[in-house]
Amino acid sequence: MRCKIVGLLFFTFVYATICVAQKKSNNQKADSVLRLMTLDEKVGQLNQYNDDNQATGPVTIDNNKVDQVKNGQVGSLLNTIGSDRTRSWQELAMQSRLKIPLIFGQDVIHGFKTTFPIPLAEAASWDLPAIQMSARIAATEASASGIHWTFAPMVDIARDPRWGRVMEGAGEDPYLGSLISAARVKGFQGLNLGDTNAVMACVKHFAAYGAAVGGRDYNSVDMSERQLYEIYLPPFKAAVDAGAASFMNSFNDLNGIPAVANNFLQRTILKEKWGFKGFIVSDWGSIGELINHGYVKDTREAAAAALMAGTDMDMESRAFKNNLAQLVKDGKINIELVNDAVKRILIKKFEMGLFDNPYKFSNIMREQAALNNPAHQAAARTMAAKSIVLLKNNNNILPLSKNYKKIAFIGPLVKSLIENKGFWDVSIPGVDSNFIVSQWEGLQNKIGPGTSLLYAKGCDIEGNNKSGFSEAVSVANQADVVILSIGEKRDMSGEAKSRSNINIPGVQEELLQQLLATGKPVVVLINAGRPLVFNYTAKNATAILYTWWLGSEAGNGIADVLFGDYNPSAKLPMTFPASVGQIPIYYNHFNTGRPALDDKNHIYNSSYLDESIFPKFPFGFGLSYTNFSYTNLVLSNKNMNMKDSISVSFTLTNTGKIAGEEVAQLYLHNKHASVVMPVKALKDFKKIMLTPGESKKIQFNINKEKLSFFNSNLKWDAEPTDFELMIGSSSEDIRLQASFELKK
Ligand code: NOJ
Repeated sequence: MRCKIVGLLFFTFVYATICVAQKKSNNQKADSVLRLMTLDEKVGQLNQYNDDNQATGPVTIDNNKVDQVKNGQVGSLLNTIGSDRTRSWQELAMQSRLKIPLIFGQDVIHGFKTTFPIPLAEAASWDLPAIQMSARIAATEASASGIHWTFAPMVDIARDPRWGRVMEGAGEDPYLGSLISAARVKGFQGLNLGDTNAVMACVKHFAAYGAAVGGRDYNSVDMSERQLYEIYLPPFKAAVDAGAASFMNSFNDLNGIPAVANNFLQRTILKEKWGFKGFIVSDWGSIGELINHGYVKDTREAAAAALMAGTDMDMESRAFKNNLAQLVKDGKINIELVNDAVKRILIKKFEMGLFDNPYKFSNIMREQAALNNPAHQAAARTMAAKSIVLLKNNNNILPLSKNYKKIAFIGPLVKSLIENKGFWDVSIPGVDSNFIVSQWEGLQNKIGPGTSLLYAKGCDIEGNNKSGFSEAVSVANQADVVILSIGEKRDMSGEAKSRSNINIPGVQEELLQQLLATGKPVVVLINAGRPLVFNYTAKNATAILYTWWLGSEAGNGIADVLFGDYNPSAKLPMTFPASVGQIPIYYNHFNTGRPALDDKNHIYNSSYLDESIFPKFPFGFGLSYTNFSYTNLVLSNKNMNMKDSISVSFTLTNTGKIAGEEVAQLYLHNKHASVVMPVKALKDFKKIMLTPGESKKIQFNINKEKLSFFNSNLKWDAEPTDFELMIGSSSEDIRLQASFELKK
């Protein structure tokens, strides 16, 4: 009895303290809570477990999670979905001594119930407001299902399409990647982290994960500091500037130091230099994996190394939970390091409003409304159309006439559902996740009563079976035009989905060959999570649409583009190689001392004897159903000093017969500098809608910031020199050129 009274008094005291603290800043509130915490409870806040719902990594069996949550030994759960399930875990957390709420994290990478195109596809839209909106909708749906925190955006620059995770990022360019990174952070987090429809962003994977040797996932990374600063870090910095709440570190080692134990990355750059105030979570089990790296001898050393290097939360390796308290007691870890990590997490819990109402995200009414919202589906359809890249269009076969009597729709992806979602779709237990418009259904929705759609599968995505070819050929023979839908399976790209051969798999290109032999025009849809190699298709198909994985509304989005209800405007965010042997291939390479100018001359220059030096499709490339002309380039000045700026203008005209959008791209090149500079680097772009015959004056502004780079001392600065300015429709299709000088 006496015990109960003492217990009650203690809780009252705790509550009073927290309540008084509520009038204070979140920083002060976190301090107040921190003062009440035992060492065990502090370590608990740094501990994140996977719920048993689903797994996105190697599972550790642990039957004791419920008790640990009740005892305040868990700070966060991942893969807990649904307002009911999150509520019941939170109720357990509310039984703990200090009632510190849990945060629920989830990989909401491209939509939640409404699946949007994979991030690489969205990046192809170069449409920042649309990308931000896609993240906003994902957050609205996820937050209604109890999720507080998404492990996105993934902002890793990727120059190697063998790496399966290229599908998850924004491609190869640091400038475009930075703008998209900021747009996604703002989209997820909304106006204010405390809003019920805002989820915390988690920017990942810090850092340089996309440069894994050989494109093999989780592999080592070895790169110069200059390349790190210039190419790989900018999207992370942009995310910090956009207010990202959290970061995730990466599985790779960087120049011999695993990222999770990398003091230079996490403390020196992120927390000190960039002033990041949020917290850093490890990747799944990666603290424990320090042993596999050969960086530490056991999990005790792993926990110490990770915490000291700035990792604040341990996802699923139990290294912090099992070792940190003892490390502190043994004097091996300063308690202030633990306090700092705990406080960073508590502050976010306060900012999210979870101390005021731990259940604010777990509301079944809101969940039902948010997960069945036609406006979200409409936005996903528009985003799907915006993401499709038109790579080829012989004889302007596209857009397809609505007067065709018979259209053959052939291929292994025509009727598939789940493939359209792409890797990292969220499957929501208990919720109808088969909400996908197949490509077949999309076309059926579109065609008029005078057109009939004929179908044959033709072949599988993988394997050598050609038994369906003859049926496909006979269907093609009956039709006016053939549409062939081929590509990868959804799980051929994504985490741990690296491929050494990135051709279109199986016998799909052979099927195309047979269909072309009928003499019918063949429009090819290529579905994939990465740039593929498809030289036969590129040469022989009548038209090609690169459709990536487009999500719930794939079928409708594709039909909109095929029939011209949407005029394609997307541009490749990654270079498409002509062969695997060219990889890594990217547009912003250096010139070298012996540049090759063509593929014929191999005399002591930087070329291949047996392969072109040029990509199949360059960065920034994408056709439209109309044409654009670029004229009247005017620079306000031919030179500027460090404080000046130059205004650049030109006239963009839609010279075709259909309204359309063009992404006009501005590239710059410093003719010489204290370090070697790329042959061109994207510095600005504008996406402009023009009606047929319409012209608009487009303006770019060039100031010192646009001309700056990490110099030989790794200082962000500009150097006086001559600059080449290039404006074009892709990184290779340069339409206007000029030069100017930057003076001291
Ligand atoms: C491992 C992945 O690398 C990471 O991106 C993801 O967020 C976590 N697993 C959690 O699923």
